[in-house]
Amino acid sequence: MKMNKIVLLSALLITVTITTIGWISTLPAKGMYPMSEISNLDLMEAGLKINPEEIYNPNGVSITDALVKIRGCTGSFVSENGLILTNHHCGFGYVSDASTIENNYLKNGFLAKTYSDEIPATGNYCKITESYEDVSEMVLASIEGVEDPAEKVRLIKKTMLAIGKEASDEANNIEATVSEMFIGKTYILFRYRVIHDVRLVYVPPISIGNFGGETDNWVWPRHTGDFTFMRAYVAPDGSAAEYSLDNIPYTPKKHLKINPKGVNEGDFLFVLGYPGTTFRNRPAKYYEYRENYVLPYISKLYAWIINQIKELGKDNESVALELASRAKSLANTEKKYRGQLRGFNKLNLVKTKLAEEQELQKFIESDAELAEKYNGLFEKLNSAYTDLHNVATRDLWLGQIFWQSKFVKLSDDILQYSQQIQLDESKRKPEYKEDNLSKERESIISSVDNVNTELERRVLTKMISDARLFADNSRIDAVEEIGNISVDEYVLNLMDKDLLNPEKVKDILIKTPEELDELNSPLFYFAKELNAQRTIINEEVDRIDGTLNALLSQLIDIKRIRNKDSFVPDANSTLRLTYGYVKGYSPADAVYHSSQTSLAGIIEKNSLGLEDYDIPSKIRDLYEKKDFGQFYDENVKSVPVGILYNMDTTGGNSGSPVLNAYGELIGLNFDRAFGATINDYAWDDSFSRSIGVDIRYILWVAQKFSGADYLLQEMGVIN
Ligand code: ARG
Ligand code: GLU
Repeated sequence: MKMNKIVLLSALLITVTITTIGWISTLPAKGMYPMSEISNLDLMEAGLKINPEEIYNPNGVSITDALVKIRGCTGSFVSENGLILTNHHCGFGYVSDASTIENNYLKNGFLAKTYSDEIPATGNYCKITESYEDVSEMVLASIEGVEDPAEKVRLIKKTMLAIGKEASDEANNIEATVSEMFIGKTYILFRYRVIHDVRLVYVPPISIGNFGGETDNWVWPRHTGDFTFMRAYVAPDGSAAEYSLDNIPYTPKKHLKINPKGVNEGDFLFVLGYPGTTFRNRPAKYYEYRENYVLPYISKLYAWIINQIKELGKDNESVALELASRAKSLANTEKKYRGQLRGFNKLNLVKTKLAEEQELQKFIESDAELAEKYNGLFEKLNSAYTDLHNVATRDLWLGQIFWQSKFVKLSDDILQYSQQIQLDESKRKPEYKEDNLSKERESIISSVDNVNTELERRVLTKMISDARLFADNSRIDAVEEIGNISVDEYVLNLMDKDLLNPEKVKDILIKTPEELDELNSPLFYFAKELNAQRTIINEEVDRIDGTLNALLSQLIDIKRIRNKDSFVPDANSTLRLTYGYVKGYSPADAVYHSSQTSLAGIIEKNSLGLEDYDIPSKIRDLYEKKDFGQFYDENVKSVPVGILYNMDTTGGNSGSPVLNAYGELIGLNFDRAFGATINDYAWDDSFSRSIGVDIRYILWVAQKFSGADYLLQEMGVIN
């Protein structure tokens, strides 16, 4: 009896804490901590040598003010003139867009000699977190009394958008968004300062910036110089403006101090950044969904597309350049998913998670009050996820065809556009409101350039042929309708030449939905059918999400009551801190990997003669002349290149500054070891290692290889 009361009381207390103030009182050793948790961490005990307020201080200037979210990556200001340091792979798409065969910046690198030489990167932007605020009560109030699960999710999304919109202040360049920290439980409003003009300043050649290519991607030991410098620009009055020659470099509130002395094994480090997505708070049945459906389907499809791209680009440099960015991102995901599948298997993750859940179930049953509230939770979760498993094949295929087939995407965009502009402005989706319409139009017209017809033909043939083999309960309606003609013939009909011509697309864009129908285009018809089925599947997924919303929120409650740890919210592209140490590890029996690589390793790999290990001959010359400058390190006897550490990072943390105990920048995060790809589901010190490039290598390449002394001066590294 007494026990019951205590449990009940703590449950009550916890509910109150979770819904009103935040989420954590006791913290695990590792995690991606939101800023609100920094003051609860004993960072000084862990090795930090500055006051944690210097890292994050809502009432003053702190290190977080130097952080930027730059598209899907992270970056940081490293000078008072808006200079940003991020990864080479984060700027890759902009560099390839700016490159031609004659002026191949991707291949040869690029260094702006003056501000006016810097290359505008169309579509690039960056955001700085200005403040945050808990709006959970407001969000949850909007679903009070609502029973229908799909309606709940719809209302939550709507309220999140409305709160964000209300808090945004376009005139002052503040964009606000609400992020879900715990499903159905905690919602935080973040205010971001947005900068729209971000240019390329210095990009090393691809043989440095992507040294090791796909062979070394997700692999330690690593020698990639994965860095790029950009610069943020604003209008002369300080407001954010689109690219213009009148714009001036942005003066950040704070920029990071570079420490060109580097680090050693065992040193305390921390990383600030914008990690994208992790799934650690999800149940076993969700892991099963990822392991059995998402990861195998996507990795196989991507591997196939990558091979096609390789084949098409083999003897055609311009095709290779045109498809380089796409191939790289597909390859990155393909290999990551392969690593995660291995991790699932090796760690027996689904089983481990199930065992945890059985323990939780016993805990629930041990107490009458808990039993009353939580009994049946796992059955309900299982049943909701079974519904998700049932739509998985169609959901994945449909998602991918709208993404991988540029024709399907383009015709769908055109159809949406023509439908939306028929509507009264107040009823249109945001991107089709009058103010945004020309932007949307431009983006549709410019996507015409992205179509490679041969790849397109192959992708459509492959995906449609795959879909023909789906089981009865996973049929794709549009594919069923093809009837008896061969897929090859059908796809030939889909190849709508008009969509390869921007002028024709401009004409098509003024047509009404009825006029589009009259075109009798097989492609438009196909896209329309696909979209109809996608809408139905999306509704089903929304319904499942709605059910899960309440259940996952209960799962968090019960776990929270049971054990006080593992309660850091999963990554959700909001600003987080993680800390740890420079640390080697043993990835396999009898294998030990130490924590630093060096120039000597680049030369060693280069000698293997593999294309991925090509380097500019000047690197070899500098190495042979021992021209290491001030970046020589006694430990490695040359210039240090890669660093390995046990910090908790994920996709989105690319370009995150790696900071030492004094908050000085000593490296740039860009990857994880292969065995650590499973981190997104489960983190453990024995296999979780992330990879950064040592600032000394960045500075050495900039100075000795590229002669970018002025950048070192700008960063205060040399006088
Ligand atoms: N694996 C790193 C990340 O997830 C680096 C990716 C870029 N490099 C590459 N070879 N694809 O983004
Ligand atoms: N390369 C990843 C990115 O682009 C970071 C590595 C990871 O996933 O940990 O964010």
